[in-house]
Amino acid sequence: MLKNFWYACELSSAITSKPKHLTMLNQEFVLYRNSQGQVFALSDRCPHRGASLSNGWVEDGCIRCPYHGWKYQADGSCIEIPANQPGVPIPKKARLNTYPVQEKYGFIWLFWGDLPEKERPPIPLLPEFDTPGWRAVYGELQWNTHYTRVLENAIDISHVPFIHRNSIGSGIADQPSIEEYDVRVGEWSASATVTANQSNKTRGFWKTILNRQESRPLRVTLSFYMPSISRLEFDFPIGHFKIILFIAHIPIDANTTLSKWIVLRNFITLPFADRDARKRALKTMLEDKPIIESQIPKVVPNHLTGELHVPSDNLSIVYRKFRKKCLDMGWGEESDVNVVDYTDDQISTDFLYQQIQEIARLGNS
Ligand code: FES
Ligand SMILES: [Fe+2]
Repeated sequence: MLKNFWYACELSSAITSKPKHLTMLNQEFVLYRNSQGQVFALSDRCPHRGASLSNGWVEDGCIRCPYHGWKYQADGSCIEIPANQPGVPIPKKARLNTYPVQEKYGFIWLFWGDLPEKERPPIPLLPEFDTPGWRAVYGELQWNTHYTRVLENAIDISHVPFIHRNSIGSGIADQPSIEEYDVRVGEWSASATVTANQSNKTRGFWKTILNRQESRPLRVTLSFYMPSISRLEFDFPIGHFKIILFIAHIPIDANTTLSKWIVLRNFITLPFADRDARKRALKTMLEDKPIIESQIPKVVPNHLTGELHVPSDNLSIVYRKFRKKCLDMGWGEESDVNVVDYTDDQISTDFLYQQIQEIARLGNS
């Protein structure tokens, strides 16, 4: 788990005046909304006897513990202990941790870390969300593995002709090689655009939408934002048709990830197509699920030499470098779980050396 980032943790619509329990980053949180609509996030454990505050209720913008009724303000301080006689002071340590929150793109974002406000990496931009002509649908899927594997799967193009050979990858199943691509590196993100020439074996929905008469191939832009957001943008060869799949891969604990996604489309924007858009996103992820959950170790190795890489892995190499940078800065709580070291593999080390040079060049340009 990496600290000092904003984490999309729940849909805005799920947070009401009824306290909501949330497990994320190996922590227990309680979230609620006051009568002005403002959202607050606090630690869920009452320091008196450890009861879960999410079983309590909201009163005058405060949260009341269900066990002995201690009342906490939104700033975490306890302002009332009903069992105390008048004049008995409230212990100084009777307070809950609080966490900054923002609402964006239909999600609640919680900042977990200790960086001052001005130094915090920003929430990723998703301008299409507020642009007229785009339609959004939401969905989610839980994975029994570490978020780093789930994130890397979402930005990995070379698995598509294999895991998805009978669905979205049917058109490239017979031509699985990936053209060389450049990685564009941002401050906390990176992206790459690849093109896919679909064969006439493309099936179903994709056959309809990938108009073979057009000369332009399908373009896919794969991006990640540290530490656990992926974004895929499909630019179809029909007019300006696009689909954007924006996913928050929420780290629940070391072995559990909850992916909450938004699918945005700028065509067939009437509600009747929502169900289908949701179903397609889920079907694709369910195809990935057994393979991704089979990966050992569950967490990606901290060092590049922990696994082998080929050129089509460039984007995930950059992700691993960003992650290593965060760990080196002391932002992580993850141990190094390398089980194999491929340092002696000549092909791998030569290739890695080139990658490191290239990434350094991109980072400086
Ligand atoms: S456990 Fe919360 S008030 Fe006692
Ligand atoms: Fe996939």
